Amino acid sequence: MTTTTARSRGLATHSAGTSRAVVVVPTYNESESLPVLLSAIADVRTSLPEGTTLDVLVVDDGSPDGTADLVRHHPAYGVWLGLLPRTAKDGLGAAYRAGFARALEDGYDLVVQMDADGSHPVSALPAMLAGLATHDLVIGSRYVRGGRTENWPLRRRVLSAGANTYARSVLWLRTKDSTAGFRAWRAAALDSAGVLRSSADGYGFQVENTWRSERAGLRVAEEPITFVERVAGASKMSPAVALEAVTLIARWRAGELRAWVRRYALVVGLVLLAGLVRLPFLHRPLTPDEAGFLTVAGQWHPGSSLYGDYWVDRPPLLVALYRIAALHGGTVSLRLLGLLVVMVSVALAAGLARQLTPRRLGPVAAAATALLLLDASLFGGMQVNGELLAVPFVLAGLCCLIRASRTCGSPLWWAGAGAAAMAAALVKQNVVDVFVVAGVVIAWQAVQRSRSHALAALAALVAGAAGVLGFVLGIAWLHGTSPAGIWDAVVTFRLQAAAVIATEASHHTAERAHVLALAWLWSGVPVLLAVAALRGARAGRAAGPPLGWMAVGLLGWEAFGVVAGGSYWLHYLIGTVPGTVLVVARGVARARRTPVVSYAAALAVVAASVALSTVHAVERGAHEPAGTAEVASWLAQHDRPGDTGLVAYGQSQILREAGLRSPYSHLWSLPVRVRDPRLEELRDVLSGPDRPTWVVTGRYGLTSWAIDPSLAAPVLRAGYVQVARIGEWRILHLRDGSGDRVTGLA
Ligand code: GDD
Ligand code: MN
Repeated sequence: MTTTTARSRGLATHSAGTSRAVVVVPTYNESESLPVLLSAIADVRTSLPEGTTLDVLVVDDGSPDGTADLVRHHPAYGVWLGLLPRTAKDGLGAAYRAGFARALEDGYDLVVQMDADGSHPVSALPAMLAGLATHDLVIGSRYVRGGRTENWPLRRRVLSAGANTYARSVLWLRTKDSTAGFRAWRAAALDSAGVLRSSADGYGFQVENTWRSERAGLRVAEEPITFVERVAGASKMSPAVALEAVTLIARWRAGELRAWVRRYALVVGLVLLAGLVRLPFLHRPLTPDEAGFLTVAGQWHPGSSLYGDYWVDRPPLLVALYRIAALHGGTVSLRLLGLLVVMVSVALAAGLARQLTPRRLGPVAAAATALLLLDASLFGGMQVNGELLAVPFVLAGLCCLIRASRTCGSPLWWAGAGAAAMAAALVKQNVVDVFVVAGVVIAWQAVQRSRSHALAALAALVAGAAGVLGFVLGIAWLHGTSPAGIWDAVVTFRLQAAAVIATEASHHTAERAHVLALAWLWSGVPVLLAVAALRGARAGRAAGPPLGWMAVGLLGWEAFGVVAGGSYWLHYLIGTVPGTVLVVARGVARARRTPVVSYAAALAVVAASVALSTVHAVERGAHEPAGTAEVASWLAQHDRPGDTGLVAYGQSQILREAGLRSPYSHLWSLPVRVRDPRLEELRDVLSGPDRPTWVVTGRYGLTSWAIDPSLAAPVLRAGYVQVARIGEWRILHLRDGSGDRVTGLA
């Protein structure tokens, strides 16, 4: 038996003692087939388990061939065989509704539906009835392993396969044979699925009840059967019947979608708004990080450095995501990627909350929180950075974890959590948020449930993570980036960098830490967290996953990430959004009464400060002093095809906008400080055959915090001549040959 519905909202198990079952058989002109079926049932009646009785109720629609009279004259009539005569042919669905209603009135515990024409094997009855001990509905299925059809013309096989595929995909059913006409129901299940209220008159009735049962959360099983085409009489299947099913299925789905949209209208609006807000910024110039990642990703190929010609301390999934943007034009597609990521994240935030609370406020508050913080320039969210790209993976992982930590959670959810957790870490290596929370849940399971429970969860988590890791590392390797190289970049380098950052912390670092703390305070997030903590403080221990510990673990890790990052860039704060969302959702879920007013007020505070700071940022952007954009356009005007360039240090947006390739593998200043602090590599580049045509430096030339220029500076002085100065920037050109040309232009 194949169980298709794992969700258990099970009805009471029927007592093992006695159970009265009835087979409801609709008939229209079945006088030839019915006697055969009745004698087969007579046989099987004698071999049923102790205490089980089996009756038959024929529902005849006034068959002109006298099927009803045949029943009346049957020896078992009035003993175990009954008749429900109706006056006119009214469709299979209507006949079954009448038959089921009668069966329920008569107090049967188990109700079977079955065709009269011998297509459904009576021999499967005992197994199907036995299946009702653990399930609410057992379907005699042609489309699970062991099930099949016999003597069915090709036309019918195609029709049936098509109908099943259509119904499954439109209605999102798990049942493989959703049109099957052979089923055993618990009487109570007929009621809770609302079978008597079903609307289809023809064979769509079968699909409708499959759908109703799945939506009602019934435990549905499929028992394999062999469906044998009738030998006598004719099928009542007609184009009208098929058409009714097709239209009804579409209409049911449309109805579901409408109800869904009504329920989540606000959330849908927030998701759209999240994207809309970013539209005006699609053409915003690239930040150094964005330009650098685009440059690395755009040329990713086997090469001398980690990602081809360039080296960067970021994992391959980030580079892969940037590659999508780079291959589609760069700036705008990168912004569109960011827009999409934010929309998905807002939707996932709502989904996360929905799992924690039936209250409508939950998804709305969670989505609004995500929107306000991800679209806020206050948190640097307008930049498409690793932090931002990792957010949807973290939220998806949390959704999986919450599913997984329910009592009947399947290992697939654990695997999903592991996969999402790994994906997030492969975007930005410090975003191991989901692993941290998973650790909390697994520890809790080991204490609250059992060691084996926890171990199984851990195994599935690791399997999911390993799958994604293997896949991404494999793809990266095909691109010429080895796992050892990645490890060196994302782990070894970060440790070395942390040491460098710690010893070199300047007053800039302290200033940025200050700004970061102020931005967080000013964002209103503390108000939101306070509301969630206060309003969510419900006495007594709630059942289910240890949300409190999960939230503490998550926010704790995220806060640690912000501080341990060492450089205190504003966009670090994006990393705290999933934790904030979880705390908000948990707060709504735990409050005694729906805390609409408190959340509306807290979110209004966040919205106001975020809006103010955005206006401020946009204004400030408009008054930006002459800078890298001018340098880039100067270069673009003066460079010649085949020219290359180098910026000391970082600021790779200059090279990107000017369209210059760099022969130096470092596009960021941190790697220079950590991996080339004495500029040996830079010196070799400047004096080698691939030396750049152009060199751009800041006010202090090659001198920068903690970089020793003594090796490279003489080489630069000897080989290059300054040709222009723009603001603080100096533009140098190779001396030999064309040097004079540009000197004149400057
Ligand atoms: N009372 C009544 N009224 N009975 C009807 C009517 C009706 O309008 N229409 C059909 N029946 C009875 C038939 O007499 C038969 O006992 C049973 O319903 C099934 O009818 P068939 O005409 O033999 O159906 P089919 O073989 O084409 O289709 C079977 O397979 C389909 C899946 O592929 C049925 O089991 C369908 O329900 C099923 O969807
Ligand atoms: Mn048939």
